[in-house]
Amino acid sequence: MTSKANDPETGRAVLKAWLKEKSPLGPLRVMAERVGRFFQVPLPGFKPYIVYGPEAARKVLVSDREKFLWRNNDPVTELLNRGVLVTDGAEHDQFRHLMEPSLHPGLLHAYTQMMLGQTDRVTATWQDGQTLDMLVESRKIALLIIMQALFSVDIWDDLPRLWPSILKVIDYISPGAWILWRRIPRPGYGRHLRAVDEYLYKIIRERKQAGRTQNDLLGHLLDAGLEEDRIRDQMLTMLIAGHDTSTALLAWTFALLGQHPHQMQELSSQLDSALGESAPGAKPAWQPPFLDEIIKESLRLYPPIHIGNRMVAEDCAFGEGETMRAGSRMFYSIYLTQRDPAIWEDANSFKPERFAKGRKTPPMSYIPFGGGPRACIGAAFGQAEARLVLARLLQGWEFSLLNGDKIHPHMGATLEPRPGVMMKVTRRKP
Ligand code: HEM
Repeated sequence: MTSKANDPETGRAVLKAWLKEKSPLGPLRVMAERVGRFFQVPLPGFKPYIVYGPEAARKVLVSDREKFLWRNNDPVTELLNRGVLVTDGAEHDQFRHLMEPSLHPGLLHAYTQMMLGQTDRVTATWQDGQTLDMLVESRKIALLIIMQALFSVDIWDDLPRLWPSILKVIDYISPGAWILWRRIPRPGYGRHLRAVDEYLYKIIRERKQAGRTQNDLLGHLLDAGLEEDRIRDQMLTMLIAGHDTSTALLAWTFALLGQHPHQMQELSSQLDSALGESAPGAKPAWQPPFLDEIIKESLRLYPPIHIGNRMVAEDCAFGEGETMRAGSRMFYSIYLTQRDPAIWEDANSFKPERFAKGRKTPPMSYIPFGGGPRACIGAAFGQAEARLVLARLLQGWEFSLLNGDKIHPHMGATLEPRPGVMMKVTRRKP
């Protein structure tokens, strides 16, 4: 490893970035700038490898993927137990195979009306001129959608009761002091984790009692004869992975549009021309290309899953003479890859046009959904949802951002805009 990683000047720059940005993203950027695409975090008791860039992504996700295993011994695995996200080998493939049909891109149109309906339910509670946190509103919409789509459950009435518990579960798996002290006591979580579990087990039992009535993801898991605990693991995995990411994507997109009002105006007018009086999704070619460009650029700048976490199972050669040692932790950084100035012109600026039709990005340099056989199972679903929800909201409302200068990325379970995305919402004239 290059000596730059350990020189005092790098240490000072890392510390400065940490204090300034109050997030590990700053220090990671400093290390990347000063050391390159392969380095080790120099913390006492925590020295994971960080890799980024297209070669790293290809190695970790495709060519050498057998040398990397999913997490072990961390709160994510503890919580999700044997969920598809945290299992390896044949067990992983079995779960993935069972769940893929419900998320198949060819079937997504079946969710269109439901996604619009859930969005409308949330906006029906809004008042003209009100100030809202779009991080919160996006989470409501995303939760209603994922529960209905995958488990045919309407979570609306239970949402006020479950809300604090769901947030606590997310907090449980977010980076924190447990990284340095794995068994640090974490009081206050047990009750909330149990509340979410009880809710999921109740859904499983009610469905069993009702007999098979739905051809949804839960139905596929039950049909396969999985035991209740394994079904709970998959449900919790999909609930968290399938809504916290969509929440972050929608919230960041609103933050970016709020910070770039001309682009928001342009998108709104393009949607008006494309849709006329009809609802998003009603006509086959309803989407103006700019909608997709904006979502893609939002995912580039603020990838909800900004880092992929693995254990090195076998020594793995890397770059020029570097080796990742078996037994170490390794992170591949989606955030650093997607902001690498060697790949992206004006890498830190919001420029949706870089995704305009005909313009190409180098392979494995744009990886918001990971890649290879373990790429995001919900990638098509999440993007369809973001396009529909965003279009529906812009069709009915105008948004103006009130705290644009305060928003910064927070490393939770996903990369979240904190302290929230405060927007004034104004109903558009019919
Ligand atoms: C909309 C934004 C989303 C983003 C940016 C996103 C991102 C990702 C990424 C980067 C990975 C790979 C992680 C790794 O390599 O370590 C992943 C995996 C996964 N995602 Fe997503 N995701 C999104 C939506 C969803 C949705 C809607 C669902 C479920 C309906 C979902 C379920 C999963 C699952 C289960 C995995 C693990 C797949 C496996 O290991 O085989 N995600 N996601």
